Amino acid sequence: MKQKSCILVTGASSGFGREVAVRLSANHPVIVHGRNRERLEETLAACNPAGKHLIWEFDLSDVNGIEESLGRFLSENNCAVGGFVHSAGYMKQLPLKVLTVDAFRQSFDVNVISAGMIAKVLMKRKVNRDALKSVVFISSNVSNFGVKAFGAYAASKSAVDGLMRCLAVELAPAVRVNSVLPGGVRTAMTEQIYRNEDVAQKADAAYPLGTGMPADIAGAVGFLLSDDARWITGQQLFVDGGRTVNITI
Ligand SMILES: NC(=O)c1ccc[n+]([C@@H]2O[C@H](COP(=O)([O-])OP(=O)(O)OC[C@H]3O[C@@H](n4cnc5c(N)ncnc54)[C@H](OP(=O)(O)O)[C@@H]3O)[C@@H](O)[C@H]2O)c1
Repeated sequence: MKQKSCILVTGASSGFGREVAVRLSANHPVIVHGRNRERLEETLAACNPAGKHLIWEFDLSDVNGIEESLGRFLSENNCAVGGFVHSAGYMKQLPLKVLTVDAFRQSFDVNVISAGMIAKVLMKRKVNRDALKSVVFISSNVSNFGVKAFGAYAASKSAVDGLMRCLAVELAPAVRVNSVLPGGVRTAMTEQIYRNEDVAQKADAAYPLGTGMPADIAGAVGFLLSDDARWITGQQLFVDGGRTVNITI
């Protein structure tokens, strides 16, 4: 007998993923994913204690192992996934002259290929029993714009948005697929960038709505997963405090 459908959140050991998992745990069992059990336990400790939440520990660099690992995890735990949020991400600032094939591959493995392979598992009737209803990929506002030294990362985010649009068409009407495109928010991923006071001040000035928080991203994800978004699919939702419409000099 299957339980109430779960929400799978990758990258739930930190930043946006953790915020999303904690928020959604109010109404759903969540599967929190990451590589570090201690940080995943911290996320679970902040989740609604009434829910039966689970940990899926897996390194998404191993893209060839995703189907087996996730399929086995879902069967062993007898759970069906109704919502999938891909927040796990790899970002390294690399100017072209130091860009490596390995860094390119890591960006694509974690940010794109794993998103597609997880979606594939969740669409297997024998594994997930047609439970999947909504998918949200955490992309980035650099998916559509240019930033120095972000080539590999931005290319992977544009790719995940391409995947999002194709899956939105392919999986309709059963499943809605959308992306959230955050602007810069202080998390473990961006800590080093914001440590530079000058950069931090310039960055904040560029955001008409001021500084964003992980909760701002989680709110948008919660909306896209919910039935309030029942006629929305294939869309990029910018959540960046107006950063990308600000052309003030
Ligand atoms: N923060 C921003 O300003 C910003 C802006 C735009 C988009 N984003 C996107 O938002 C998403 C979340 O980023 P964040 O800011 O919340 O970063 P974060 O706090 O550093 O969290 C990143 C998460 O990804 C997981 N992860 C990284 N590599 C992994 C791998 N190989 N296998 C499994 N899990 C892996 C990490 O798990 P471990 O605990 O195992 O390391 C962690 O849970 C990312 O996709 C990022 O590209 C962030």
